[in-house]
Amino acid sequence: MRSTVLGAGSWGTALGAVLAGKGFPVAIWDVDGAPLATIAARHENTRYLPGIPLPETLRSEPDLARALEGAELVVIAVPSHAVRPVALQARPALRPGIPVCSVAKGVEVETLMTMSEVLEDVLPVDLHPYLTFLSGPSFAVEAARGAPTAVTVAGRWDRVARLVQGAFHTRTFRPYTSSDVAGVEIGGCAKNVVAIATGLCDGLGLGANARSALITRGLAEITRLAVAKGAVPLTLLGLSGLGDLVLTCSSEKSRNYRVGLGLGTGRKLEEIQRELGQVAEGVLNAKSVDLLAARLGVEMPICGAVHRILYQGEEPRAAVRALMARETRAEG
Ligand SMILES: NC(=O)c1ccc[n+]([C@@H]2O[C@H](COP(=O)([O-])OP(=O)(O)OC[C@H]3O[C@@H](n4cnc5c(N)ncnc54)[C@H](O)[C@@H]3O)[C@@H](O)[C@H]2O)c1
Repeated sequence: MRSTVLGAGSWGTALGAVLAGKGFPVAIWDVDGAPLATIAARHENTRYLPGIPLPETLRSEPDLARALEGAELVVIAVPSHAVRPVALQARPALRPGIPVCSVAKGVEVETLMTMSEVLEDVLPVDLHPYLTFLSGPSFAVEAARGAPTAVTVAGRWDRVARLVQGAFHTRTFRPYTSSDVAGVEIGGCAKNVVAIATGLCDGLGLGANARSALITRGLAEITRLAVAKGAVPLTLLGLSGLGDLVLTCSSEKSRNYRVGLGLGTGRKLEEIQRELGQVAEGVLNAKSVDLLAARLGVEMPICGAVHRILYQGEEPRAAVRALMARETRAEG
């Protein structure tokens, strides 16, 4: 299946490698020529996935229209804030009937739209049934190395979700399908904010009880937000919800967890972000999730605390005291 990946960062390159590893001809494009150049010259993305050999059928293409020529599957793998401009640029070259798979995790800050809403806003109606959303517990470096990875592909049209599932399925990469686009999208976005909270908790040395409580209550608030967007609560117990939350909250490989960890040990956000050198989407997601929760009237105390710490200078320990002092209530 001839495929095109838009975005040659960590995840785009890893997914390109999964597809190309099956022998599919894969063109990979990025606005930045640097990663494309190293993929072309050395079959390696030295910036985003150093040391991992990439299949020869993964071909760099700096011209967007040429990259999309003849594509039978289009993967959008740029950070959530770049999905709109990239989709706008790609629009003239996208043909109806070709599945588009977005893998970005986020809600657009300016509009509070999820990625499906952004893509439906930008792309013509006849492309909408072909939109799918891949999410789940997946560190790019592990998937690219062929470590067993399971994800969810959500799509409103089951036939298309199954097509994308089949395209990505390998001996080490196992996609499931779901028709719950909102549930899969909100899980993938809001877990980044809870990951920052968990990093903060560990940075402050609050202990294992506190971390478990944060993850569990974090999942409760993510579920409330997802349900307000029309999701089925059970989706949040799946790979794109609980699965991704566990991954992001329990490993220093997660940029969002590392942001929280740094803040919890008293470092400045700008310094942590500079050191990461890559987008920690949870920082933007903290803003969009907080605004979306307010718009929908959903109570999200943990995500709200992360937002205040990041954007309003609240002291992390004061935020913890405030969370513990909230009025007691029934679990749920
Ligand atoms: N890295 C992972 O392990 C992983 C796993 C699952 C999902 N994701 C999601 O995939 C998306 C991409 O993440 P990533 O880790 O690959 O990011 P990254 O920071 O590694 O790379 C992002 C790429 O997007 C490109 N880009 C940025 N702005 C652009 C623009 N305006 N136009 C065109 N290209 C642009 C950059 O040049 C870069 O090559 C995110 O939404 C992330 O949440 C990442």
